[in-house]
Amino acid sequence: MKDNALLQPYHSKNLSLKNRIVMAPMTRSRAVNEERVPTNELQGLYYEQRASAGLIITEGSQVSEAAVGYVNTPGIYSKAQVEGWKLVTKRVHDKGGKIFIQLWHVGRMSHPDFHRGELPLAPSAINPNSQSFTPEGFKDTVTPKEMTKFEIEDTINDFMNAATNAMEAGFDGVEIHSSNGYLFHQFFNGTSNVRTDEYGGSIENRARFFFEVLDAMSEVIPQEKIGVRFNPSLHNLFGITLDKDTIPTFEYIIKKLNDYNLAYVHLSEPFTDVSEVPYAVTDIAKHFRPLYHGTLMINNQFTAETGHEVISSGDADLVAFGKPFISNPDLVERIEQDIEWAQWDQDTFYTPGEKGYTDYASAKMEQSS
Ligand SMILES: Cc1cc2nc3c(=O)[nH]c(=O)nc-3n(C[C@H](O)[C@H](O)[C@H](O)COP(=O)(O)O)c2cc1C
Repeated sequence: MKDNALLQPYHSKNLSLKNRIVMAPMTRSRAVNEERVPTNELQGLYYEQRASAGLIITEGSQVSEAAVGYVNTPGIYSKAQVEGWKLVTKRVHDKGGKIFIQLWHVGRMSHPDFHRGELPLAPSAINPNSQSFTPEGFKDTVTPKEMTKFEIEDTINDFMNAATNAMEAGFDGVEIHSSNGYLFHQFFNGTSNVRTDEYGGSIENRARFFFEVLDAMSEVIPQEKIGVRFNPSLHNLFGITLDKDTIPTFEYIIKKLNDYNLAYVHLSEPFTDVSEVPYAVTDIAKHFRPLYHGTLMINNQFTAETGHEVISSGDADLVAFGKPFISNPDLVERIEQDIEWAQWDQDTFYTPGEKGYTDYASAKMEQSS
């Protein structure tokens, strides 16, 4: 489908992309080494194979040891990790691609097993009653420790360091993972944040930590290299519940982001059916597009057809594809040539090694075999 709007180049003042097809951030748990370093053989090859995307956003990468919450996820806080990522960014750039790194702190979604028995950090001491993927398999989450002001300050510094490291590693930009029930989302949401200081209570207060991190990062890297991600209608997942303040909170944040000069705002359509859920917004792109004047990226269950439609209608500028990129390294070529998409294997999403990671064939390879 040569006239698919997804294939049009995209040029804004901060972002120039060869097409509007973005690879969504996806944890793949393949940094199987002591220091959680991405390697040339695995992550280098995986991302290079997908470099025809207009933009790649890497898997969530923890900004510190305290930020981790899943097995074998790479970090962006140590020298060795920066060196590992340098190999990845070079391979993507050599293929003419662009790549942002997603900066991640899981907050209360972590487990004491990752922190030598210490409690994970969160805005408030409220257990998400979810599960954490630990080295010994899935375990129930615990009641986390409410962050002190000092720990908040420390975490802001960790994001600044990670942003600086990302530039050193050669990334074209960073995406703040302020989505999907992790640390920032825990500050935004009334069920996970019951603080009575300046980080809790009002909408402005619950958004404060996010903006402090964004402001701090803007001091050390160009603001136009920062993207942010939200999932406004997330409900009953990762201990997050929609209430009357939820959508107004995201409206406040997204409107305020017009005062910033970001690379993009990245939103997800609801992960579950929220049509019967009070206070939910069912059509995220349509709802938030009029509120934000910069580049808007949209995600969740898009196809070549619905991606074309959302861009043609003007409700989004870019579309992020997740699972389709796992099993179709050449997703862009498949959209160009109208080739059927290969199905992904859920059983190998998070397993070590190349199986289900770098061994998905392109359509061209399938034809020649
Ligand atoms: C295996 C897997 C890992 C994921 N890891 C992340 C992650 O690290 N960060 C993030 O923001 N979203 C993550 N997601 C969510 C995806 O970015 C995306 O929102 C989701 O897959 C829906 O898009 P899709 O329907 O195109 O797959 C993950 C999804 C999958 C399937």
